[in-house]
Parts: sequence; C-alpha cells; structure tokens
Amino acid sequence: MLEIGSGTGINFSFYKDVSVTAIEPNPFLRKTSYERAAAAKTPIHVMEGNAEQLPFSEQSFDTVIGTLVLCTIPNPVEAIREISRVCKPTGTILLFEHVRHENSLLGKLQDFLTPIWKRACDGCHLNRDTIHLLKQEDIEIIEINKHVGNIFITVEARKKQM
Ligand SMILES: C[S@@+](CC[C@H](N)C(=O)[O-])C[C@H]1O[C@@H](n2cnc3c(N)ncnc32)[C@H](O)[C@@H]1O
Repeated sequence: MLEIGSGTGINFSFYKDVSVTAIEPNPFLRKTSYERAAAAKTPIHVMEGNAEQLPFSEQSFDTVIGTLVLCTIPNPVEAIREISRVCKPTGTILLFEHVRHENSLLGKLQDFLTPIWKRACDGCHLNRDTIHLLKQEDIEIIEINKHVGNIFITVEARKKQM
C-alpha cells in the first residue's frame, strides 16, 4: 500500500497486516513520520518523494491512499496521473479531502480566501475542485461521500477499466 504525503504519519496507527510505503516531501514532517512508522503495528517504509513524480514502477500497489493532500500538492493533475500509474488495475484509490463547495457563494468565498490561506497553511488550496480533477483523469469513481456541510469528501476510486 502507498500513502502519499503522509505528513506526520497520523494515519499510521490505523494500518494493520499490510506493508506500507509512505512518501513525504517535507523533511520536518517526514521526521515525525519516521518516528510514527517505528511505533506502528505493521511495516511502514517512509521515503522522501513528490506525488507528481512517484519513484515506483507502473502497477506497484494494491491500494493508494491520500488524506488532505491533493489540496496541497502543487500539481494535483500530475499527482492523480501518477497515483493511477502506480496503482494496479484491480487496486483501490482512497482519498479524504476538503474541496471547493458546490454552492457558488461558498465556493467564491473559498476562492477569495485561498491566496491568504495558501500562505498561512503551507500551500493548501481551500478551493480545489478535486472531484472534477479526478473525473478528468483516468480514474473511475466508485463512491463519494460528503461530510461536514459537503466541504470534506471521502472517495473510493480505481483506474478506469479499458
Ligand atoms: C495538510 S497536510 C496532510 C498530511 C497528512 N496526509 C494528514 O492527513 O495529516 C498536506 C501534506 O501534503 C504534503 N505535500 C505537499 N506537496 C506534496 C507533493 N508534491 N507530493 C506529496 N505530498 C505533498 C505536505 O508536505 C503535507 O504533508
């Protein structure tokens, strides 16, 4: 299983009976990922890396996970392509993200706040339309659930079957 942008490794304690590779570009966050990986119940290999250029061959992983990460990645389209490339055709892509609100007024408020938010929150975009980006790529969405006034989404997806 691959986790992209593991940050401090907050998800690691949830993983059991699976071998995990985690990539994290930020050295300060990655340090905590290493510590959490060492304390995890399952083997977790933490590496430096960017989701836009994953250092893995095609179809390497059964599952690819990202939480609150596509909002921050500078080039989310490239990252989605890379996720699709390294995920097996039978594999699962699991995402938890906050997204641009479908209500146009709230969406515009997010557009307005994003430049300041980005500076304060390490490049995070409040207004990423992640569902739209996923649908434009080689990804088939199996299930989307919306949470907290539709600002957060959980997505189960897979590579589009040709
Ligand atoms: C809001 S944090 C979320 C961290 C973690 N996934 C979580 O749920 O707590 C966003 C993460 O995306 C990472 N990130 C930023 N640019 C990235 C990139 N190009 N590729 C992969 N991860 C990236 C950041 O370093 C940070 O760890």
